[in-house]
Amino acid sequence: STTDDIKKGLAGVIADSTAISKVNPETNSLLYRGYPVQDLAANLSFEAVAMLLWTGELPTDDELGAFTEYERSHRQLDPAVKNAIDLLPETCHPMDTARTAVSVMGARHPQAGDSDPDTELAKAQELFARFPAIVAYDQRRRRGLEPVEPRGDLTYAENFLWMVFGDEEHLAPPVVEAFEVSMVLYAEHSFNASTFTARVITSTLADLHSAVTGAIGALKGPLHGGANEAVMYTFDEIGVDRNESREQAAARAKAWMEDALAAKKKVMGFGHRVYKNGDSRVPTMKGALDAMVEHYERPELLGLYDGLEAAMDEAKSIKPNLDYPAGPTYHLMGFDTQMFTPLFIASRITGWTAHIMEQRANNSLIRPLAAYNGADQRAL
Ligand code: CMC
Repeated sequence: STTDDIKKGLAGVIADSTAISKVNPETNSLLYRGYPVQDLAANLSFEAVAMLLWTGELPTDDELGAFTEYERSHRQLDPAVKNAIDLLPETCHPMDTARTAVSVMGARHPQAGDSDPDTELAKAQELFARFPAIVAYDQRRRRGLEPVEPRGDLTYAENFLWMVFGDEEHLAPPVVEAFEVSMVLYAEHSFNASTFTARVITSTLADLHSAVTGAIGALKGPLHGGANEAVMYTFDEIGVDRNESREQAAARAKAWMEDALAAKKKVMGFGHRVYKNGDSRVPTMKGALDAMVEHYERPELLGLYDGLEAAMDEAKSIKPNLDYPAGPTYHLMGFDTQMFTPLFIASRITGWTAHIMEQRANNSLIRPLAAYNGADQRAL
């Protein structure tokens, strides 16, 4: 292999086939198992979308009922996982907490190394059900608050918000809807960096928790999932002023973007390896952000949002990605900025585990080549 053969960043490389989702940048569409993601977000619960991703088909009412019952009865935080989190400093990133907690769950699983299809699906469903308690526990301990017990009368999205905030205000329908839409949109996106990581790990025949732990590590960086957190730091740097008009906020955002681009900065929340004319998920997520802006009466945030977007478009024709509207949406809901990417994990657990099962069902060790560019052979 020579340097001419290198596909830096594997850009444009088709590494395998998948039946889980289809990203089509030409038509700006994203299908999960054949269904447009915006239709799923508008019509289905996140629980139903998770089942669709795992099994390939929409669940029947009975199947969804049985899974819902299972999910509602597996939301408790394992005391051993709680103890492990307690050993971590509160100064560590919540992504480190999440990565560690999933690793502990794997080590404690009775079928730690066992990966037949039924065990794998059961592990995926358990992880799906238990993960929100990890995020909620970590968010609350960082605020010096006691954990809140899960509630069996609530849906996945409602209970997630309940365990984090412990109040009825977060169960207001517009908040729950916006949160659930974000969960559906973040669930799956083909061979992105974290999913590919999970598939590489699975290809060695390692277990599901190892693959998910590795995927969390890949998701943490700001070029991938960490971008939703980074978007909020941009907003903070520009400065959110609740007393200014949308126009004033937009003008300040535009000036900030011009300076950032002149300094050759990469602005998080913009650009995408696959979509070059806009991320298919953004319009739906922007709708959720608009609903939250209205609910919390914070129009000046949209001034910043529009100002940055217009300035980037004008200067470089680069469009926002999903993390751009998701960041301020989670901020308005009251999550700490560092908690945004763990929310992405909660959702992407579905896509990752679907890919882990798909990889295992038709496995080939993922092991590419490298073009050597070090010293020629030499004598000692
Ligand atoms: N800000 C400024 N310039 C950018 C940006 C950006 N966000 N994104 C791309 N560009 C420029 C880049 O500088 C390059 O310009 P030039 O040709 O003059 O050097 C050109 O656009 C092509 O960029 P690239 O980095 O070669 O494109 P890529 O396909 O390797 O990168 C990306 C994709 C997502 C890594 C990149 O757009 C980026 O760093 N964006 C910011 C991070 C981010 O928002 N990530 C989230 C991705 S989507 C959802 C998710 O996974 O969470």
